[in-house]
Amino acid sequence: MNQDIKKLIDICTENQRFSYAPYSQFIVSAVLETKSGEIFTGVNIENAAYTPTNCAERTAIFKAVSEGYRDFKRILVMGGPDFKCDEFIYPCGVCRQVMAEFDLSNDMEIISAKSDYSYMIYSLGELFPYGFGAEDLK
Ligand code: THU
Repeated sequence: MNQDIKKLIDICTENQRFSYAPYSQFIVSAVLETKSGEIFTGVNIENAAYTPTNCAERTAIFKAVSEGYRDFKRILVMGGPDFKCDEFIYPCGVCRQVMAEFDLSNDMEIISAKSDYSYMIYSLGELFPYGFGAEDLK
């Protein structure tokens, strides 16, 4: 077992308790590691009007960006109904678009993990091919 990833899974699990998901009861937690080694956590934050809901991944990314960090090494995500993380879950399309905005060197890892410490590692290119980016606006 990769000890660095085990540590990220432990942080992610511990952070689940901050999820605010009264409508879906689907608890999601994410841990973002910057290239310089900082760790930012995030949870899903739901809203009675539904659409303002923020996913765990974006919460972590926005926390980091708002504190001056934009170079991301990897993001690990875990989630499931009622604090169970028995299935792999994957970032939604909006989160993938937000990740693409900051994955300038195209080397960020996206890790989906479960409570039993199993995990899968993907590149953003695998999960989000042919995305729209800054280059397209030129
Ligand atoms: N959710 C996330 O936070 N991240 C994902 O990768 C998938 C979905 C949240 C949004 C909503 O609060 C709940 O999960 C159900 O969709």
